Amino acid sequence: MQALFSMLIVAACAMFATANTVSAQDAETEKAIEKYRAMLREDPWSNPGLLDADRGEALWKTARGPSKASLEKCDLGKGPGIVDGAFAELPRYFDDAKQVMDVEARLLWCMEKLQGFTRADVVKRIHPGGGAPVKELGAIATWIANKSSGMKFAAKFDKPQEKEVVAVGDNLFHRRSGPFDFSCSTCHAAEGLRIRLQGLPFLENKEAAKKVVGEWPAYRVSSTHVMTMQHRMYDCYWQMRMPELEMGSDVSVALIAYLTKNAEGGEINAPGLKR
Ligand code: HEC
Repeated sequence: MQALFSMLIVAACAMFATANTVSAQDAETEKAIEKYRAMLREDPWSNPGLLDADRGEALWKTARGPSKASLEKCDLGKGPGIVDGAFAELPRYFDDAKQVMDVEARLLWCMEKLQGFTRADVVKRIHPGGGAPVKELGAIATWIANKSSGMKFAAKFDKPQEKEVVAVGDNLFHRRSGPFDFSCSTCHAAEGLRIRLQGLPFLENKEAAKKVVGEWPAYRVSSTHVMTMQHRMYDCYWQMRMPELEMGSDVSVALIAYLTKNAEGGEINAPGLKR
């Protein structure tokens, strides 16, 4: 416990060099933002992430890319063009790609195969900076997730390839690596951990995972944009000072498969609303 505690202090100091001086003005700002969040939560239709979901739907239907094709023939696992409930069954193994994919990896694949986009171009700077809107792929993923809202996570994970990916994710979640010697579980495998005022969800715990995993993609109030689950993984890897996590990579999909497996039976409520 002592070791864990000092590691968190190191993490907190490394991440927030100015963490120990919270000015009165910061406290006021924080209070005002909390009020804004509370207001957004009161009226679910006011979640700005829904605008990105709408943008995503339009993008799905628009002919784009070198092949001037829409994504309407993209098979998310339930047959070409079927979006309703598809997210609830992801990640899954796709025979055509011979790979297990989460929603974003699958979209990347469809953009490549149907629209002729180059993978390297799409994944380059795929995550938005603070204040910038979620990119096209993320907006489409937000719409797809929203089309499973109210449903429960029901990915089967019964194919050998799917079982393997979940096991790899489990391993990665618990494996210490990088210059800080952190694993995901350093921050996410105990009740009530915090970095400064930021609560750290206990993602190994099925009840906690059920509550939070279904909220992604989520509108993040502090950066005023939708963040996808791939973006969340990228950011947590960055917090661990690991090499940049490539969107759609095997590692990213394995982590998401592991989290989704833990959240099995949890309700999807996307886009969620985060701090
Ligand atoms: C140094 C501590 C730290 C490590 C290590 C870490 N995270 Fe996180 N994680 C955070 C913080 C802080 C947040 C909340 C970020 C925010 O809201 O701004 C977070 C948020 C998350 C969330 C979203 C939770 C929610 O509220 O919905 C997920 C999922 C997640 N992390 C997964 C992971 C995974 C998977 C790994 C390993 C690859 C990992 N984290 C490693 C600190 C960490």
